[in-house]
Amino acid sequence: MTKNDRANFGSKLGVILASAGSAVGLGNIWRFPYETGNHGGAAFILIYLGCVILLGLPIMIAEFLIGRHSQANTAGAYQKLAPGTQWRWVGRMSVLTGFLILSYYSVVAGWTLEYIFEALTNGFAGKSPEQFIASFQSFSSNPWRPILWLVLFLLGTHFIIVKGVEKGIEKSSKIMMPTLFIIILVLVVCAVSLPGAGAGIEFLLKPDFSKVDSDVFLGAMGQAFFSLSLGMGCLCTYASYFNKKTNLTRTALSVGVIDTFIAILAGFIIFPAAFSVGIQPDAGPSLIFITLPNVFQQAFSGIPILAYIFSVMFYVLLALAALTSTISIHEVVTAYLHEEFKMSRTKAARYVTAGCIILGIFSSLSLGVMKGYTLFGLGMFDLLDFLTAKIMLPLGGLLVSIFTGWYLDKKLVWSEITNDGTLKVPVYKLIIFILKYVAPIAISVIFINELGLLK
Ligand code: TRP
Repeated sequence: MTKNDRANFGSKLGVILASAGSAVGLGNIWRFPYETGNHGGAAFILIYLGCVILLGLPIMIAEFLIGRHSQANTAGAYQKLAPGTQWRWVGRMSVLTGFLILSYYSVVAGWTLEYIFEALTNGFAGKSPEQFIASFQSFSSNPWRPILWLVLFLLGTHFIIVKGVEKGIEKSSKIMMPTLFIIILVLVVCAVSLPGAGAGIEFLLKPDFSKVDSDVFLGAMGQAFFSLSLGMGCLCTYASYFNKKTNLTRTALSVGVIDTFIAILAGFIIFPAAFSVGIQPDAGPSLIFITLPNVFQQAFSGIPILAYIFSVMFYVLLALAALTSTISIHEVVTAYLHEEFKMSRTKAARYVTAGCIILGIFSSLSLGVMKGYTLFGLGMFDLLDFLTAKIMLPLGGLLVSIFTGWYLDKKLVWSEITNDGTLKVPVYKLIIFILKYVAPIAISVIFINELGLLK
């Protein structure tokens, strides 16, 4: 494929919304709250913010420049920029990570469809908090229903992917992202005005550093990579569709700010809500599926129609957020097969969808009938989450920063970040310093610390 017939995002807004669409997803609304809940609240959030600023943004810029310069899928990018070297394994590992993430991420994305269905058929009305917990457990451990939704969700993703970059990815993001933002704002207002919401707000804002241990650092770093879509060539692939005028630093900043803002807003929905209905914030992956239906029932107990509308809205929002993210992960693997194995986009997408359905089925079953099958004490779902978010993504980030900071030609890096010197980037030196020293050292220290070698 030559440079000229390669797809491109059509506008600057399209670039930002598609990248933010990738970043904003279940990571913000589902994973961020329960990781925050498991790791004690405000202190975790502060460390998380540190990871976003110090590691996330510079590594995002690095991924952007690798993608845009090479104009290739993530594996092809390393082959172009470092031909004949072992760096190609970084690209290949990225594709594998993407495939693994997509398969378990789609399971949760599928749950959102079940909850839309429940909300639409008024299935939440009149239930008690205990009943919500019980019905989530019985649903997620059912062998069939979650799989049905998983397949549907992946087919939806597939449909947009085969439509292509501009008509599929860009157009859908332009509609979905603003809608999502509006729904979130409305829900924040509802949640913080619930009785007893204050305790949740305090949990979010008052750090308790006595709970901070090595797990908290690894958790925060993993969450930062996961939420910003970093460490597996996702934004690198999207950047290969950017044009030469895109300001990489500014785009990274916009995406980082939007993503972080939405995660924090999600916190302001979930925790006031959880505390208000008396659900523990460390309920884990089920957190948003058991707290939120309660909130709507309680907040609007006198006005059932509003409870109905808000429940539908919330789960639609969640599904949309998840969709713009599954699209971006799917694209990494599809673009790889399409370009490296010279198969058509449609055929490539079919392989990805089919593979993810198969692996996704096992992830889904691991929460129910296959609960007994574990590796290192973790079922397939938890294992994939741990392996990708806490190991493969930070490792990918580490390698990207070393690649950009040490291996790539300085002139190439400079000309990508400053668009051949036409942009003034006052933080240029800082970015390079972080990529060269801070990121590799910080990520390694967090890894080593977690392994307990520092004690
Ligand atoms: N960032 C998305 C979310 O928060 C998920 C996601 C999309 C992702 N692309 C990724 C995670 C690449 C890791 C790597 O839900």
